[in-house]
Amino acid sequence: MSQSYRINSFDEYKEAYQKSIDNPEQFWGEIAENFTWRKKWDKVLEWNFTEPKVEWFKGGKLNITENCIDRHLETMGEKPAFIWEPNHPEERVRVVTYNRLHKRVCQFAQVLKNNGVKKGDRVCIYMGMVPELTYAVLGCARIGAIHSVIFGGFSAQSIADRLDDAQAEFIVTCDGAFRGDKVIPLKSVIDDALIGNKTIKKVIVYTRTRTPVSMIKGRDVWWEDEMEFAEHQVEKDGVVSFPAEEMDAEDPLFILYTSGSTGKPKGVVHSSAGYMLWTNYTFNNVFQYKQGQVHFCTADIGWITGHSYIVYGPLSAGATSLMFEGIPTYPDAGRFWDIVQKHKVNILYTAPTAIRSLMGFGLAPLQGKDLSSLQVLGTVGEPINEEAWHWYNENVGKKNCPIVDTWWQTETGACMISNMAGVTPAKPSWATLPMPGVQPILVDDKGYEVTEKDENGMLKGNLCIKAPWPAILRTTYGDHERCRTNYFATYPGLYFTGDGAIKDENGFYRITGRVDDVLNVSGHRIGTAEVENAINMHAGVVESAVVGYPHDVKGQGIYAFVIDNNTHSDDELTRKDILQTVTRIIGPIAKPDKIQFVKGLPKTRSGKIMRRILRKIAEGELENLGDITTLLDPNVVEDIKNGAL
Ligand code: WT7
Repeated sequence: MSQSYRINSFDEYKEAYQKSIDNPEQFWGEIAENFTWRKKWDKVLEWNFTEPKVEWFKGGKLNITENCIDRHLETMGEKPAFIWEPNHPEERVRVVTYNRLHKRVCQFAQVLKNNGVKKGDRVCIYMGMVPELTYAVLGCARIGAIHSVIFGGFSAQSIADRLDDAQAEFIVTCDGAFRGDKVIPLKSVIDDALIGNKTIKKVIVYTRTRTPVSMIKGRDVWWEDEMEFAEHQVEKDGVVSFPAEEMDAEDPLFILYTSGSTGKPKGVVHSSAGYMLWTNYTFNNVFQYKQGQVHFCTADIGWITGHSYIVYGPLSAGATSLMFEGIPTYPDAGRFWDIVQKHKVNILYTAPTAIRSLMGFGLAPLQGKDLSSLQVLGTVGEPINEEAWHWYNENVGKKNCPIVDTWWQTETGACMISNMAGVTPAKPSWATLPMPGVQPILVDDKGYEVTEKDENGMLKGNLCIKAPWPAILRTTYGDHERCRTNYFATYPGLYFTGDGAIKDENGFYRITGRVDDVLNVSGHRIGTAEVENAINMHAGVVESAVVGYPHDVKGQGIYAFVIDNNTHSDDELTRKDILQTVTRIIGPIAKPDKIQFVKGLPKTRSGKIMRRILRKIAEGELENLGDITTLLDPNVVEDIKNGAL
């Protein structure tokens, strides 16, 4: 490993950071030497944020699966790549060694090939958290197909929109998924999503729950049959091989859909080499992973956290990644602690919402659980409140484990601002310092750098990044202009994160939350416009406005103000109908927590909804609503206040 690769002290961090800014090409060029390339790159970095165009390691050829699997086989073939903990604690644990992973990925790559999948094709993956999901993801990467994993909580309609946007031709799914005491009928959701679909040629179905499924002749095939057939093709005399497709450094690796301030989710596109480098570099440095440790990231692979810190980051580092099929409260709220004890977990990476929800069960679920294997804790997905931070530190880490608060986004690929475990200082509820190569800047609403400190000595502004890091999104699938307007046009020359932040005298950052119309509900990103569109589809709804409000467990709850057409007689029933509609259109994760029926919405004379007022009311702050004289009809505010939930 090159010297600049592994950061072991605060001084080394400062040195690496400086070097990464002074000479990014040399810095990242040296780091890139730690990977397996078929052909070396011609140029480390070319970029402009106007188009935008970002190219890392142009001319370089590689395959990410050779870096995640093949290169480890000689020395670590029998080491576990994945430890899989099933939903039902009494079911058998599965340990997938690097050798086994290699075989399964080769087999599945062959299955894809047998079914006509080619380099560049889009493959939608809609599965539960089973090891086969990782074979599907890596099998795509091995043949150069672009995977688009969709979280199991999205509805048929959401899947249909994503399939259409990506012009996907193949789907990999399961009959069903176990989640706590529920069975989610995934294939049946896929069948609904496929009504009217014109692009999908094949659906590969893995059996997990033995849920009855309809299998359409010529379109649907069983995973098990396909894998058995492929086994004979990839294994000869005990030697397994499936040649990996040679990919350009900038070839797209995957699409992952995420919400923004407009009604339609965007397909964030990540590249091969830059994404690999960034997930690997941040995994090693933020968590300070040491060979032999067990890393447990509790996210679902349907989100970016799972992509980067269950699959690509850990595997590229030759780590052991623990994958959990179930939920933190099944069979009881001690499940995480049981898993830590059972598998001697060393690194635990979870979301503040999970911590807050477990806090609600008190300390009993922790009693008698041996958590002494833990060495590093991490959080991601939303700002962590100090109370949750201290609870995590005292009761889980026993004040013995550094906590890394990692700020990043689907678009950034991996950690951007975070302390490094035991290496750089931590500050409760602060993400602290940028990774090497990350240049944050706080700007005011006009785009000028904020230089005036507030009464607490803090700089406060909209968080932007000045220059590209290796895993910056390359485009939004099929619509580059959308990528430009969304991220690069608000403040020309800068990447705009959509977050607000403050910066203290040490240069530490604290991310305060979204400044656009995006909610963060239990660490899931949901656009208010998306929820409004879904609510408005209900027959009895005339118009709606959705805002977030502070929620003890979820971080933010969803509050919907709804104008109905006055024909319903039972508010409760109509509320349920609306929830059902949102579940159908987006999925259960977008269901409003509160629905208030109103006669009108606070609009300006130009027809714009003044969300500021609605947010205050949703927060329970009925006084000091600010200036409402510019409203078309200030009386609606009184009415809304009177009916506030
Ligand atoms: C948004 C990104 C990063 C993977 C999971 C979410 C918020 C994320 C933190 C943190 C404060 C955070 C931001 C960001 N966020 N991590 N440590 N502290 N806020 O990915 O769905 O793309 O959401 O999550 O608001 O913009 P995502």
